[in-house]
Amino acid sequence: MKILVTGGTGYIGSHTVVELQNNGFEVVIMDNLSNSYIEVVDNIAKITGIRPGFEKIDLTEKEKLDHFFNHHTDIVGVIHFAALKAVGESVDKPLDYYYNNILSLINILSCMKKYRISNIVFSSSCTVYGQPDELPVNEESPIKPAWSPYAHTKQIAEGIIDNTTNVEDIQGILLRYSNPIGAHESALIGELPIGIPNNLIPFLTQTAIGKRDILKVFGKDYKTPDGTAIRDYIHVVDLAKAHVVAIDRLLNKTNKKKVEMFNLGTGNGYSVLEVIQSFEKIRGVKLNYKFVNRRAGDIEQVWADTSYANEELGWKAEKDLDDMMLSAWNWEKELAQNS
Ligand code: UD1
Repeated sequence: MKILVTGGTGYIGSHTVVELQNNGFEVVIMDNLSNSYIEVVDNIAKITGIRPGFEKIDLTEKEKLDHFFNHHTDIVGVIHFAALKAVGESVDKPLDYYYNNILSLINILSCMKKYRISNIVFSSSCTVYGQPDELPVNEESPIKPAWSPYAHTKQIAEGIIDNTTNVEDIQGILLRYSNPIGAHESALIGELPIGIPNNLIPFLTQTAIGKRDILKVFGKDYKTPDGTAIRDYIHVVDLAKAHVVAIDRLLNKTNKKKVEMFNLGTGNGYSVLEVIQSFEKIRGVKLNYKFVNRRAGDIEQVWADTSYANEELGWKAEKDLDDMMLSAWNWEKELAQNS
């Protein structure tokens, strides 16, 4: 069973490739390496003992994509991660986000139609719920106006998949993630953005190791118990495992609708300060941080009701916040040793 994983050298993609290979799938990765490194392929091979296929292709280049599918006729499913994903950056560069994220999806779906590939698992986000009126969000919660171009691309992408599966021989599962953090227990793969990190955890661990001077906490005047924003953080390996369940569900045709959506999180919300405290506890050292203004595009608080995914997929996040912070810190230390 060969699966195409777009964005497979990226953060969630690489952990998913490991879980797919551990579960007997053959994997070919497609990535343009715009925010990841080719060495990730070697490290996946070290973890699993199997080297996944790799093609450096930008998904906005349709001819190259077509050429790829023409030569890989045995692909049975696509897990589509490849996308730009920084909320703040998307506010500054909206056209880059719409062009890349939407065109890539259109090209993938067009090729799936042409080459008769029927199964897609899409990397969506709880950000599609906007700032919800009621927490936690479940799959029936209303889709509110997007707070950032990034969030809007996820909403549009869900709509494109829904419309396409209505009329084509394609079925899909939309996985709406909360915030993935942490790293593989081997410390061979983890989150490694190119340049200055946008996301909280890589910035935090880079500050702790001395690569950054100080962590800026965006906003201390939110209407939350300690004034900082709240998110539902999930260990990336827990999240990766859900993709194996999802692609299995499509391949075994145990899905209940042509398009299904599931919230993936732990169901617990933690503030930025609580994340910092967990990290300080793990490391036994205070972290250097300061409060600054809110970041454009950020919502105040969100956490997910994951009971539908737990019951229907038979999947549940197992790792807690301390596990997440410990694995993220081990990964950062491993990077420092090798640099
Ligand atoms: C967002 C999306 C999430 C998506 C992710 C991809 C929402 C609610 N979530 O996560 O679905 O997977 O982008 O990148 O839109 N923070 C700081 N200092 C920093 C960095 C972050 O205080 O240097 C704070 C942020 O303001 C936020 C929290 O930490 O409150 C998490 O931020 P981040 O890791 O960037 O993820 P989100 O933007 O929440």
